[in-house]
Amino acid sequence: MTTSRYAVASAPAKVILFGEHFVVYGVPALVAAIDLRAEALLAEREDGLIYIGAPDLGLAGYFDAEGSFRPEEGGKEAEGALRPIFVAVREIWRALKARPSGVNVEVRSRIPVAAGLGSSAAVAVSAAAAASWLSAGRLEEELIFKAALEAEKLIHITPSGVDPAISTYGGLIAYKKGEGIRRLEIGAHLELVVGDTGLKRSTGALVAAVRALKDRRPGLFSKLLEAAEELVDEALGALKEGNLRALGELMDISHGLLASIGVSNAALERLVHAARRAGALGAKLTGAGGGGCMIALVEPGKGREVAKAIEEAGGRAFLAAVSEEGVRIERAGPSGA
Ligand code: MEV
Repeated sequence: MTTSRYAVASAPAKVILFGEHFVVYGVPALVAAIDLRAEALLAEREDGLIYIGAPDLGLAGYFDAEGSFRPEEGGKEAEGALRPIFVAVREIWRALKARPSGVNVEVRSRIPVAAGLGSSAAVAVSAAAAASWLSAGRLEEELIFKAALEAEKLIHITPSGVDPAISTYGGLIAYKKGEGIRRLEIGAHLELVVGDTGLKRSTGALVAAVRALKDRRPGLFSKLLEAAEELVDEALGALKEGNLRALGELMDISHGLLASIGVSNAALERLVHAARRAGALGAKLTGAGGGGCMIALVEPGKGREVAKAIEEAGGRAFLAAVSEEGVRIERAGPSGA
């Protein structure tokens, strides 16, 4: 219990329906926020320090105003995980020209970590939002997105920005690097099943491996980019018409394209094929790949059957609903956090 001023913000996880990896090179991505959220509690403190704790992960430590870090829990690993949160908060203070003396940050998340669902961005967006609320009494979405994007640059150096964008704005959007978001019209309810391989992986390493492939084979890669762009165009049409069969087929093709750039693996293939065998309209890896999660699009009411097949194939499965709401303030006040 604290008696200082505090704000609690939350932000959603995401699934990329089309365009992961290719979005780093300017192809639009189609992405949905889902109803799993991360939460950040910020409470002011008097000593100028920024204390950040992630109790679920056993990580905690102190940053001073210059950014030096002293771990309290979790040793060296703590810094890598907590510094992006520090950066997100600091960027908000910079943008709003705010200089609070210090702050306690506690983050909690129901989003699986390093699984392709945008957990790090959802945490950074929540922390930035709570900082924006404490400093300005309002949510500055554009600033929150930009602050979380700076945080993402610590995780991998060339983020497209798709993860902080969807976590900030929510819903179903098309995102293009450097141009921002466009909300999408959708002609049908999307029933999605997420399957987690349980294999944690590094987005940075996967993005770097794809970049190396692009540099080795620039001609071929540019054709893959063209195909990725055409897939997104066709998917936009299918979404608008509510043509789930076409959307599923395009998801299968998208998975093939992602496999061709080396970001699928045996565990993902097992879950994707199990979902298709169980009647999914389409299935693909989602996010950076190399482990992490896949998604399956199913006919309304078929989610449980497909989830069961994914679990029998060794994954952990859950049904995900598209969440219209992006970042939001959960509660705030002068006392009693
Ligand atoms: C990660 O969720 C999506 C990637 O395309 C990386 C990025 O866009 O920054 C793999």
